[in-house]
Amino acid sequence: MYKNFINTEDWSKSEIEDLIDVANQLKESPFHQNFKNKSFALLFLNPSMRTRTSFELGIQQLGGTAIVLQPGKDAWGIEFEEGIVMNGDAEEHIKEVAAVLSTYVDAIAIRAFPKFQNWDYDKQDNVIKSFVKYSNVPIINMETIVHPCQELALMMTMKKHLGKVENKKFLLTWTYHPKPLNTAVANSALSIASKFGMDVTLLCPNKDYLLDKKYLKIAEENCQQQGSTLTISHDIEESYNNADFVYAKSWGALPYYGNPEEEFKIRRQYAHFMVDEHKMSLTNQAKFSHCLPLRRNIKATDAVMDSDYCVAIEEAENRLHVQKAMMLNLFGEKI
Ligand code: CP
Repeated sequence: MYKNFINTEDWSKSEIEDLIDVANQLKESPFHQNFKNKSFALLFLNPSMRTRTSFELGIQQLGGTAIVLQPGKDAWGIEFEEGIVMNGDAEEHIKEVAAVLSTYVDAIAIRAFPKFQNWDYDKQDNVIKSFVKYSNVPIINMETIVHPCQELALMMTMKKHLGKVENKKFLLTWTYHPKPLNTAVANSALSIASKFGMDVTLLCPNKDYLLDKKYLKIAEENCQQQGSTLTISHDIEESYNNADFVYAKSWGALPYYGNPEEEFKIRRQYAHFMVDEHKMSLTNQAKFSHCLPLRRNIKATDAVMDSDYCVAIEEAENRLHVQKAMMLNLFGEKI
């Protein structure tokens, strides 16, 4: 039996702490040969800069081979529905894709964003679940409705700057963007901060911007277990007050999922949620981060992005180290 890396719910706090310890060692000493003769397929159904570069390079730094495929672009489009008459755009079915790739490579990593049409359907995360069902090798999530690799990088970055993160105030703030974006990073940020016992505040414009109840419940249960708190707020000043770490992300309002024009009428009233120096001045000298990519002077000001307290580049770098640690773990490899 092999392990997958689909979400951090399946991994304990101490397992994640171990991954971060190994990631810190890899940051000091990046090159090893554990993956000599191992190969990985990286399937991108959506664009990427950081994820693609850090996975390809990370596998190479461990002596392995990475094959990048973009189904529908440089590889055949894939059908994920069962029993369907395939007279649409997709040329092959996940059953064959997963079976064939399993004969070629030692692990498959997938990025598959939701389609932004029907949340009840998208939240089932059917694409990655289909890979798990039909492959015979470990499956890695490179962002679907959660972004667990980003979670590891975020926690590695927070531990470096905060030391002990337990009961430190973690602010996840919604921020403006002209389009309704994926909730994955926000779901993940709530999950990891609460798993590590931080006092979590979720700041969003109104109840339409609350995250899916599954992720609110995960955060609530994690906080209960860790003896920390989960606060939901629509008050900007109160939320920033005394925060130890500020994490920004924009996402679409779930009640308007699949209806971007209607959602925009609401969202456009909240451009003032952009992270700026005044808001950061209310914090407990907090560090600021974002998963990137980030539209400057829309999600956060130039002053915030160029400040000493912005650790977004460090978090992006840490993606490389945590992913290598996670992949080594999947194969029971040590450095
Ligand atoms: N944060 C992140 O996943 O970046 P990319 O979309 O560039 O991969």
